[in-house]
Amino acid sequence: MSEHFEVHGGARLTGEVEVVGAKNSVLKLMAAALLAEGTTTITNCPRILDVPLMADVLRSVGCEVEIDDDVVRITTPAELSHRADSAAMSRLRASVCVLGPLVGKLKKAVVALPGGDAIGSRPLDMHQNGLRKLGATSAIEHGCVVAEADGLHGAQIWLDFPSVGATENILMAAVLAEGTTVIDNAAREPEIADIVAMLTEMGAKIQGAGTSTLTVEGVPELKPTEHRVIGDRIVGATWAFAAAMTRGDVTITGVDPHHLELVLEKLRLAGAEITTYDGKGFRVNQPERPQSVDFVTLPYPGFATDLQPFAVALSTVSEGTSMITENVYEARFRFIEEMVRLGADARTDGHHAVVRGVEKLSSAPVWASDIRAGAGLVLAGLCADGITEVWDVFHIDRGYPHFVENLNRLGARIDRVGTPTAG
Ligand code: UD1
Repeated sequence: MSEHFEVHGGARLTGEVEVVGAKNSVLKLMAAALLAEGTTTITNCPRILDVPLMADVLRSVGCEVEIDDDVVRITTPAELSHRADSAAMSRLRASVCVLGPLVGKLKKAVVALPGGDAIGSRPLDMHQNGLRKLGATSAIEHGCVVAEADGLHGAQIWLDFPSVGATENILMAAVLAEGTTVIDNAAREPEIADIVAMLTEMGAKIQGAGTSTLTVEGVPELKPTEHRVIGDRIVGATWAFAAAMTRGDVTITGVDPHHLELVLEKLRLAGAEITTYDGKGFRVNQPERPQSVDFVTLPYPGFATDLQPFAVALSTVSEGTSMITENVYEARFRFIEEMVRLGADARTDGHHAVVRGVEKLSSAPVWASDIRAGAGLVLAGLCADGITEVWDVFHIDRGYPHFVENLNRLGARIDRVGTPTAG
């Protein structure tokens, strides 16, 4: 039997919860360690499956990786392999982030096409076009991205869309290229600023972190560093939505509230009282039933697509009707069918969803299809009559360290039942 959660409805969440390092940052920082010979130390790492998976990816190209509680130490040898095509590659999206560092360092890479959440099509054209502009060839052959260059040179690169992964890969190739690279329409996510901070500590010369123009002046080599991962804004926001949905009062620490300005504004509009603690965390107190709010997903600083399932979950129990627009991943509304099993009054049309709030949801067995959709179903289960079974919870475990323990400490009652299956 595989594992599932039994979520008892009716909880009001109160108390304090600490958030650790961001999944979407740590995995890229681990890849960046490939750029410098020697031992790089990354602290505040979340204990989630994707970290050991990424460690396997790095080991497959010749690194030694040691995971000690929340510290990851990566020792990059003088001679790295350019082939990253181990089985671990297909199990997470972020594995593709070894492409930029390998091309930057070795001028050659064979990188298996990545796996990750089934949330819609995830092409690599912008990653490849960026590398081509830097002077590499790039093609998909036998399930791998194959890239090669005699030497990399700086270039002007304009991204069609501010893709997080493409920005990271191009950046990590450009730091060792000869000359100046300008990446325009770059992603502005806090995780990009985090990787820029780490690369700068390693000796890279990068201007414009957090803006849509990154200017990189290539350097001949980088040195290892020690870096602390930024707090996970997506996890922090998950607890914020959980507080609002259960009419609770929760203080969330370990996340910079500036990374969640729009999210906190939306929760204020829904009726939450928000207190922020500069750089440290925030408190969400929801005294009454939430009011409906509209949400539109966009690249940062817009409302994150990774939070869209929580916007839907909140809307299912709010007073009034919400319109939620998904602009980033076309398949990300699929989980709404599961919300409907729980009694949500929701329908989708293309990239819009209309959700009419109901007083109470009603428990049912539901299936998680990705990390955030799964977590959204658990939050909905907290607002349902009876016990909601959420299946395929290995998805949730990939993104949330101590998910059940954290919610139970805040007053939820969730039991993990059965034996784990590999994600
Ligand atoms: C990252 C996050 C993911 C988040 C997403 C958007 C990680 C490991 N994952 O994914 O949780 O949902 O950012 O915030 O950090 N695209 C192309 N061509 C490309 C690259 C992307 O068309 O070459 C499209 C994608 O299909 C998607 C959009 O651009 O529609 C955004 O993708 P991107 O920002 O690249 O997301 P990821 O880096 O894969």
